[in-house]
Amino acid sequence: MPSKNTGRSAVDVFLKSWQVYQDIITHNYMFHSEISGATREALLGFNPSQKLNVLDLGCGDGSMTLTLLPPERIETYIGCDLSKPALDIAQRQIDALSISAKLLCDDMLKVAEKQPAQSIDLVLSSYAIHHLNANNKQRLLEQVSRTLKPEGQFVLIDIFLDPTEDRTAYMHHYITVLQKSWSKLSPEAQDLVVNHATEYDYPEQTTFYQMLCEKLGLGSGQRLAKHTWHEAWVFNRAA
Ligand SMILES: C[S@@+](CC[C@H](N)C(=O)[O-])C[C@H]1O[C@@H](n2cnc3c(N)ncnc32)[C@H](O)[C@@H]1O
Repeated sequence: MPSKNTGRSAVDVFLKSWQVYQDIITHNYMFHSEISGATREALLGFNPSQKLNVLDLGCGDGSMTLTLLPPERIETYIGCDLSKPALDIAQRQIDALSISAKLLCDDMLKVAEKQPAQSIDLVLSSYAIHHLNANNKQRLLEQVSRTLKPEGQFVLIDIFLDPTEDRTAYMHHYITVLQKSWSKLSPEAQDLVVNHATEYDYPEQTTFYQMLCEKLGLGSGQRLAKHTWHEAWVFNRAA
């Protein structure tokens, strides 16, 4: 969860919220298991004989995205996140996998803007882009399209509004489900998630991405998985 502060107390806050996120993953409340399974399977067929340059936007500790591809398929991995403590954990995972990687503690939009045109085979982002406002989401997608090689792929894993929802309705529905079914989290941890979501979560409807991606030469996308508000999509850069 976002924090660019590197002081001790910021690290403590990070570790507390990160432990809650690990508990969410362990209990599969955001469907990481099904979503990563479907994405991994889809990526099996993406340029199978080629090593890939991968850009991971909002990579966190890398524990989601680094499982989507076998390490031997990665030529270079560029991961970026605002949280230095998260990147420190990602670095340890990368060292264990022995892949060539660069981790950048910076805003994903700035990082994407700095990538050379048509340099990336696969842009990934998991549960991170909903933190941007609509204008910055659009700017980011423009950069995704610019940085992808022809026939490159953009895999977007995130939360999305249902077609009838605005953000207020979504927040009400999501928090109701959370308070009813995320029972393995303590009340304190549930409050932390609710406060985080209320402050930082700005999901869009899937049509927002489909229309923009279509306009930017990334096609209208294919849904790989959907579990309540949690979905995985793949978009293909035109040849
Ligand atoms: C819910 S975590 C997901 C982490 C990881 N991708 C995963 O799926 O496990 C969201 C991450 O997005 C990062 N983040 C939020 N806004 C960001 C931004 N503007 N630029 C880079 N990272 C950002 C947060 O620091 C956090 O690590």
